[in-house]
Amino acid sequence: MDLTTAVAVVTGANRGFGRHLAAQLLGRGATVYAAARDPRSIDLPGAIPLALDVTDPASVARAAARASDATLLINNAGVSAGQPVIGGELDAIRLDMETNYFGTLAVTRAFAPVIEANGGGAILNVLSVLSWVHPGALGSYSAAKAAAWALTNATRELLAPAGIGVTGLHVAYMDTDMAASVPPEQKTDPAVVAKLALDAVERGDREVLGDDLTRRAKAGLAA
Ligand SMILES: NC(=O)c1ccc[n+]([C@@H]2O[C@H](COP(=O)([O-])OP(=O)(O)OC[C@H]3O[C@@H](n4cnc5c(N)ncnc54)[C@H](OP(=O)(O)O)[C@@H]3O)[C@@H](O)[C@H]2O)c1
Repeated sequence: MDLTTAVAVVTGANRGFGRHLAAQLLGRGATVYAAARDPRSIDLPGAIPLALDVTDPASVARAAARASDATLLINNAGVSAGQPVIGGELDAIRLDMETNYFGTLAVTRAFAPVIEANGGGAILNVLSVLSWVHPGALGSYSAAKAAAWALTNATRELLAPAGIGVTGLHVAYMDTDMAASVPPEQKTDPAVVAKLALDAVERGDREVLGDDLTRRAKAGLAA
């Protein structure tokens, strides 16, 4: 898809990876709705702040009505409660699933008809290497990202007839608040990953692997 004429909605665009995606989309000439739970936290010149809590159905419906010219949806908003599924806090385990899976599902269901009505476009889902690798200590997050990967594949098939391409981004550690406790040498610059992801959307790729760790993980899946 031509990003210079795209009208993009980026969830969780107030900080971290989402802010990089929104900034680079603006740089490529796109119109950008920068969505955030608190739209006052959007500080990107040229972006249109959009109130959106992906876990609140009324908020999702209002955002889809407001951004009725959207042609590109980036499901970036996420949390990492990172709880072990045995012994972890059940509320935190549910929050990972509510945000990373049901949030992505709700926003996709709201915006797919909008994008179709505007002649088609694309959806980019921000997934993780942990969609495929499931360490016990982070089971709640892995389960949610695995579910979001399955959702990505299912929606790709369902939305193709509507002219909507669906891309999944898998990546390991990026240098954002979410990975604040990870040593710097293990983290990738989110700006580099954002460029890879947007190039993939532009080409219509089904999948983009954001770093070497993720590329190695995917190559090792069959084993
Ligand atoms: N950082 C990594 O190492 C890494 C690796 C793989 C994948 N990812 C994925 O990358 C995406 C972005 O994460 P990040 O690294 O940028 O983390 P981050 O810095 O913690 O930012 C998370 C973003 O998601 C938003 N968010 C959380 N819950 C929300 C909700 N219910 N409704 C709307 N927005 C919500 C946050 O908004 P508030 O400011 O309101 O909290 C914030 O904008 C996530 O999907 C994450 O799982 C990250």
